[in-house]
Amino acid sequence: MTENNSDEFNNNNFELSKVRKGNSENDIDLKIPVHKFNSFSNIFSPKSKSTIDKSPTNNNIAGITKKEKKGKKEKKLRSSIRYDLDNVIQQMEQIKKEWIEYKEDKEFKNYTIDLNTIEIFDLIGSGGSGANVYTCNVDGFRCAVKVLSKNQYSPRMYEQIEKEIDILYNLPRHTHIAQYLFHQQLETGLYLYMQYYDSTLLYHIREVKAKKKVIDKKVIVSVMKKICDGVRFLHQNNIIHRDLKSENIFINYKHKKIHNCAIGDFDTALNVSRRNPKSCVGTTGYIAPEVLESSENNPYNKKSDIYSIGMILYEMMELKIPYHQKKNPYQISQAILAGEKPILAEFTICKYKELIPIYEKCIDKDPEKRYSIQVLTDLFIEL
Ligand SMILES: Nc1ncnc2c1ncn2[C@@H]1O[C@H](COP(=O)(O)OP(=O)(O)O)[C@@H](O)[C@H]1O
Ligand SMILES: [Mg+2]
Repeated sequence: MTENNSDEFNNNNFELSKVRKGNSENDIDLKIPVHKFNSFSNIFSPKSKSTIDKSPTNNNIAGITKKEKKGKKEKKLRSSIRYDLDNVIQQMEQIKKEWIEYKEDKEFKNYTIDLNTIEIFDLIGSGGSGANVYTCNVDGFRCAVKVLSKNQYSPRMYEQIEKEIDILYNLPRHTHIAQYLFHQQLETGLYLYMQYYDSTLLYHIREVKAKKKVIDKKVIVSVMKKICDGVRFLHQNNIIHRDLKSENIFINYKHKKIHNCAIGDFDTALNVSRRNPKSCVGTTGYIAPEVLESSENNPYNKKSDIYSIGMILYEMMELKIPYHQKKNPYQISQAILAGEKPILAEFTICKYKELIPIYEKCIDKDPEKRYSIQVLTDLFIEL
């Protein structure tokens, strides 16, 4: 009745899978076993000394024809978030080279990575930002693209996704952070290309629940280690995520088991070295009490992410979203401010007895009493 996961902590894998051009349903079943390739640790690192602002003339971007785009000069994003297309091409070439060597397949020797042939396929998700996420084929590599269409977006929505790009662009690569590839600003909207992930932790939890199973403690610990490792990296880089929840944890499977987790959705993340967090941001049920009460003179800090991690732990143990029995966000906020904790079934308390005290400390009303991300990560490593 449980699902198991023998995954290693902090493996440095990064996977791209090949897709047959023009057909997302017929994936060639070849995942690149990245551990064979040393240079994969540097894949798609968007930083380079010579940043060149160059936009691909893409004929296949959803809804855009070559004619529409011809002659129109693309607006440039702020210089701080310009992408480095040359670097992406160079690194995709490297993937190709290594993949060819691995496969020893002569047929692929003439294959050239061409960012002019991007095709966008099925809608795979959408969230609070108003953007849609699609699978796409960047010249044979399956990726995901988050699209904020021009006809959808308000200046506020635009600013948020621009902030997301800014943060992802400037972060060094990390296994447990959704991997940014590059972005484009076209006449039709803003396009953020990322590594493709198979699912989200929220869907995973729903599937486990639908099958009337529970998640094995070992699997929970493995997932929590990865999430904490990602958040530790963010906090070390002075980033607070501010919207940690199972829906924003992207996962990859291997042999039907969770193989990797990456934190995604950075449109509400904040660089605290630039300014103090003082606005109420996040998703009800995962928002810490001090965030609900925050104001200009009453900022909060990184410990609000620890509270949200506690709620993710709750979801994995209980297979329900926190405060699921409440009727509306107002009731949830009132419960949080009153110090009312989410309901835990007796079964959950018994099954996960080692995890309960950790969860409780994460969601302590007093941020000072919560763990730091370093201590929390170490705790999960030791379990
Ligand atoms: N790189 C990705 N790979 C696979 N699915 C993704 C990816 N990025 C986003 N998604 C899906 O799209 C949904 C919305 O994306 P997200 O970045 O969270 O946008 P929002 O800010 O609107 O919530 C996610 O919950 C997930 O289901
Ligand atoms: Mg989201």
